[in-house]
Amino acid sequence: MTVAEQNPLLEGLRLRRRPDPCILVIFGASGDLTSKKLMPALYALAVRRLLPERFAIVGAARTEESDDDFRERMKKAVQDYARDPFDEEVWSSLSNGMHYITLDFADDRGEDELRDTLTKLDDEHETGGNRVYYFAVPPSAIGTLVQEIAERRGADGWIRLIIEKPFGHDLQSARELNAEIQEHFAENEVFRIDHYLGKETVQNMLALRFANGIFEPIWNRQFIDHVQITVAESIGIEGRAGYYEQAGAIRDIFQNHLLQLVAITAMEPPIDFTADSVRNEKVKVLKALHTPGPKHLVRGQYGPGFVEGEEVRGYREEEGVAPSSMTETFVAAKLYVDNWRWADTPFYVRMGKRLARRETTIAIQFKRAPHPPFEDGSAEGLRPNVLLIHVQPNEGVSLAIGAKVPGQGMTIRTVHMDFLYGGAFREGLPDAYERLILDAMLGDATLFTRSDEIEEQWALVDAIVGMWQRDRPAFPNYAAGTWGPSAADELLHRDGRSWRRH
Ligand code: BG6
Repeated sequence: MTVAEQNPLLEGLRLRRRPDPCILVIFGASGDLTSKKLMPALYALAVRRLLPERFAIVGAARTEESDDDFRERMKKAVQDYARDPFDEEVWSSLSNGMHYITLDFADDRGEDELRDTLTKLDDEHETGGNRVYYFAVPPSAIGTLVQEIAERRGADGWIRLIIEKPFGHDLQSARELNAEIQEHFAENEVFRIDHYLGKETVQNMLALRFANGIFEPIWNRQFIDHVQITVAESIGIEGRAGYYEQAGAIRDIFQNHLLQLVAITAMEPPIDFTADSVRNEKVKVLKALHTPGPKHLVRGQYGPGFVEGEEVRGYREEEGVAPSSMTETFVAAKLYVDNWRWADTPFYVRMGKRLARRETTIAIQFKRAPHPPFEDGSAEGLRPNVLLIHVQPNEGVSLAIGAKVPGQGMTIRTVHMDFLYGGAFREGLPDAYERLILDAMLGDATLFTRSDEIEEQWALVDAIVGMWQRDRPAFPNYAAGTWGPSAADELLHRDGRSWRRH
């Protein structure tokens, strides 16, 4: 019995629309992303029979590797990282169509061989010239590759390009990259990944807001005091110093994941759930977003400390990091969305590495009840209503409300109404990449970042980085395992507020 047959829910998924036959080419197939995310996601899709009936995978990277070695390495990746138990039958159906090609991304050698392999595979698998190219490579490699692909484009089938972050390094480079791509491909052929949009809980924010009648009328400056968004990680830079030293928290998390969370929280209801309607509304938020100035920005870098009971070194002591590095590993900011819905309502955001624990939350803090009619002191334990979206972990939604403590008198305390995914649904949460790879194969760009969106995101980052040129903070300024520099607390205290208690 296969995994799908044992589980009726998985069997039900088979009834959904399946993508056209195609070949998926992964550039950067020797990297971590392919082993830890892409291959386990493809395997999960294979388990649920959501992949095209006729399908092949071609891994491409600089490293020399035979087809068999590639298959073996991917099998190990699936055994180590997939969310389903390993099933030999599913694996062999997937790995039968797996191939590897050595390719130097800097020149066009190997590109003809790639094209010939793909044509041969088209005949074997009847994939009709349909291609998904996945770019898990640095931005500098993308332009040349895109051009090579366009030059060798056949007459049959469709092409979709999935492009990983980072998408450029600033507004200028992102614009150039967009232009290079758009010279050869239409926007509906381009799928820029922000894997946070593939997370169930992030999509559920759209369901929460637009499938329920009760939230929209109060989702505005009249009823909401402020919004807090936290993207906290307990991990450090995990051996990625080369990348992280250039990126820092502002480019690694703020520019993409964090701003997408802000956009989804603040956007107007789209008229429908098509790619353009949803992205039109998000881009309006990004255009309206600004930070009121350098005083409302906090940068941090972690020093040594203890994370979840384990002693860890400081950022400057990490392998590959300059001993006097000024790269930030923490950012907090106050942002405003300049429109009628949100004017004067602060969005406080913070994100960082080596914080006390992994936690991504969106907290909507409502204004206090105008006049609680109870006796003095009865509501001392009462906090304002908060709608808390747990993006991860413990995925769910919780509403903090005031309730009467049982017994005499009228003492009020804050309690929580909780919805937990684990309790409400039987099927475990899919990984973001499962959803996104499938959507790209289906040609649905709703959960991908459009070119204008990415440029607006960079415009804000450029403005912030520009403000940072003027001063040099005393790094490190927070100990690993804490909630960041004290200046992040002061940012809210100045406004008479504080970060949500942990
Ligand atoms: C990536 C960043 O985009 O997101 C990493 O480059 C970060 O630095 C990761 O750790 C966080 O993703 P998740 O899904 O674990 O929250």
